[in-house]
Amino acid sequence: MTILVTGGLGYIGSHTVVELLNNNFDVVIVDDLSNSEKFILDNIEKVAGKKPVFYPFDLKRRDLLKQLLDAHQIDGCINFAAFKAVGESQEKPIDYYENNLFSLINILQEFKERNISNFIFSSSCTVYGQADQMPIDENTPLKTPESSYGKTKQMGEEILMDFSNAHHKKVSLLRYFNPIGAHPSALLGELPIGIPNNLIPYVTQTAAGIREKLSVWGDDYPTPDGTAIRDYIYVVDLAKAHVKALQKLIADSSETVIDVYNLGTGKGSSVLEVVHAFEKANNVEVPYQICDRRAGDITIAYANADKAERELGWKADTSLEEALRTTWEWQKYLEERAR
Ligand code: NAD
Ligand code: WQD
Repeated sequence: MTILVTGGLGYIGSHTVVELLNNNFDVVIVDDLSNSEKFILDNIEKVAGKKPVFYPFDLKRRDLLKQLLDAHQIDGCINFAAFKAVGESQEKPIDYYENNLFSLINILQEFKERNISNFIFSSSCTVYGQADQMPIDENTPLKTPESSYGKTKQMGEEILMDFSNAHHKKVSLLRYFNPIGAHPSALLGELPIGIPNNLIPYVTQTAAGIREKLSVWGDDYPTPDGTAIRDYIYVVDLAKAHVKALQKLIADSSETVIDVYNLGTGKGSSVLEVVHAFEKANNVEVPYQICDRRAGDITIAYANADKAERELGWKADTSLEEALRTTWEWQKYLEERAR
């Protein structure tokens, strides 16, 4: 079977392509390299021992998507391609709606016309906002996200539910918590652009001396150590969940399927716990200072991922420390590459 992986040279996409290849799927990647680099394709081949087909184009170009689908018999899609920077989405909301939603709609139009099913969508725990109760299961009420980025995820989910119901398609909405870490080979990982906004890349660059100090955004939250709590999930565990979700969709004999899964570890870690786990895992120091809260941040979010375990036979089992060790190896690889 051949799977179209959009954004397949990105952080989560590249790890998922490796897992798909390991599970004998053929893969066709579309990625416009807006947030990745071509060497990731070579590294996917080094890790998996197989080279996926790669098309470097922007999914807003429906004409190019048509040509691809004319050339390949596609059995499903995992749609990672999107802009994902929360802060940037507040400054450029229309760019976010255009990129994330036009790309999605182009693929769905083509799948509708060509009668292709099996669609997996990268959603996010951001669709829950600050939930009233922890842990967050799939029945937790959704809240309109504050950021335009988050809204593209909520809208994407709604578009896909309509797509599935009206056109009898099999769809899986995967709500990721906070993905972290890199491939154990240190050949794949997150490519940081500019000053990182997310915690783990900032911690890593601080340990590497690229940044002077980590700013811990708030220590007055109602949590045990006062810093905010998230559910950090190892990217390879997350990638494996995509293969399981895809296999379930393919095996499902119903015409119309809308699966929804939270993908997290089920465990919350505070900012300071992450900092100390990074220091311990890598035997390095992470200088930090306590600052005011960051606007828009929630206090706490961690998953109840029992549904994914029950229905997909999947569980995130890599420890926080192990994930943070791979992050450091990846940082060293990037530094070596830059020399
Ligand atoms: P990423 O930026 O590393 O990967 C996205 C890839 O898509 C990039 O390689 C980029 O070049 C490509 N791309 C973007 N727009 C495109 C377009 N119009 N046409 C073709 N290619 C395009 O991001 P990631 O962290 O791997 O995230 C993957 C998906 O998961 C995204 O949809 C993101 O919103 C979602 N998600 C990410 C996180 C996270 O914290 N990383 C959490 C929840 C959900
Ligand atoms: C984690 C914690 C910060 C940086 C974002 C998106 C969300 C989802 C995941 C895609 C928070 C604290 C951070 C720093 C810090 N992405 N922090 N100093 O905010 O949970 O979620 O990524 O869908 O939509 O909003 O992740 O890594 O930015 O922050 O103290 O320099 O680390 O305040 O408590 P977040 P994050």
